[in-house]
Amino acid sequence: MSFMDMVYQRESCRSYQDKPVSRELLTKMVEAGRLAPSGCNAQPWKFLVIDEPEAKKKMCEALVVEGGATGCPWRDSVPAFIALVEQHANVMPAVLDYYGDSQRFAQGDIGMAAMNMMYEADDLGLATCVLGMSDQSKMEEFFGIPEGHTVRMVLAVGYSAESKEPRKKVRKPLEEVCSFNQW
Ligand SMILES: Cc1cc2nc3c(=O)[nH]c(=O)nc-3n(C[C@H](O)[C@H](O)[C@H](O)COP(=O)(O)O)c2cc1C
Repeated sequence: MSFMDMVYQRESCRSYQDKPVSRELLTKMVEAGRLAPSGCNAQPWKFLVIDEPEAKKKMCEALVVEGGATGCPWRDSVPAFIALVEQHANVMPAVLDYYGDSQRFAQGDIGMAAMNMMYEADDLGLATCVLGMSDQSKMEEFFGIPEGHTVRMVLAVGYSAESKEPRKKVRKPLEEVCSFNQW
């Protein structure tokens, strides 16, 4: 399959089969994330894989934020999660001097790692969904994440129970989001 075919067919999955994902496959996903590019090659990430029942219960709780909102009402049926946690980025002195912020590139870096992981998941026959919202203090309490290490996103991972036909992509038109040489 060409890369663009993969791009057209990848989509977020919100319904999973009741089938575990092996550590081998989860590790392959993390390997794809680990190899992603990052600013100054700082690799400001840690991948926290959650695949055991007790830990999954805790993750389901951490995916509900104060006030009760969640981006994942179907969380109980997710076979595994991978949290992408931001770490301190050891960037070049010139970057730090200019931006005054070691974390300037970190969220973009984590997005790149996530994308690598999602395409690797697709290639392995798995499905994923990014979950952007989580309760940081519960994450720290439940999983021993050190303070200041922000969970930027969580990937839900499993075997899709959705219909095989990819949904039509809902995206802004190309002309709206692309211009050449001038804004
Ligand atoms: C940063 C981020 C956070 C997201 N959070 C959620 C979420 O909490 N719940 C959810 O169901 N989907 C979430 N998504 C998935 C988006 O809704 C989805 O990528 C978008 O609608 C495009 O659909 P597609 O992935 O099927 O192409 C998130 C995606 C990103 C990139």
